[in-house]
Amino acid sequence: SDPDSLQDFCVANLNSSISVNGFPCKPDAEVTFNDFFFDGLSKEGDTTNVFGSKVTPGSVLEFPGLNTLGISMNRVDFAPGGLNPPHSHPRATESGVVIKGKLLVGFISTNNVYYSKVLTAGQMFVIPKGLVHFQLNVGEGKALTITAFNSHLPGAAVLPLNLFASTPAIPNGVLTKAFQVEDDVINAIKSKFGS
Ligand code: GLV
Ligand code: MN
Repeated sequence: SDPDSLQDFCVANLNSSISVNGFPCKPDAEVTFNDFFFDGLSKEGDTTNVFGSKVTPGSVLEFPGLNTLGISMNRVDFAPGGLNPPHSHPRATESGVVIKGKLLVGFISTNNVYYSKVLTAGQMFVIPKGLVHFQLNVGEGKALTITAFNSHLPGAAVLPLNLFASTPAIPNGVLTKAFQVEDDVINAIKSKFGS
């Protein structure tokens, strides 16, 4: 859902001092075939963290050749029981294919209807733009999915981190009221994320 391109390509100059909506293009004379290939999704992500999952992004920031083309991909690795926690992408619809293992994939509509299914290798899913979603490894071993986005920089608002690990922190009064719990519950959750 990014705007249409105005030229064949515009390999990002990520270091430009000029700020535009997207990134300025590298001069044509400096563009090589290497700008259109990326091997950053080839390695298994390190899932040793509280969630037991790791998103390895292949957005314009890692793969500058994607600049202005309205597309990008991620690799998501899961330890057994690992969760890619509830999050949303403000700028893209997401589609994914399970490569390995067994994943519970779920999203919630803006009417608070929950849609979910357990998927295995070769099966696809789609998450409509902006909706909150997650993937949980419900298989015995590791799991892997490759996801694709119709934006070169989909962005991700990860709910637990947005709400409980922001800088500076959201005042407890907001969170106690929002979740209808006492301070101690909010402090306990915040402490899990080191704040
Ligand atoms: C999975 O939900 C991803 O954002 O790659
Ligand atoms: Mn996602």
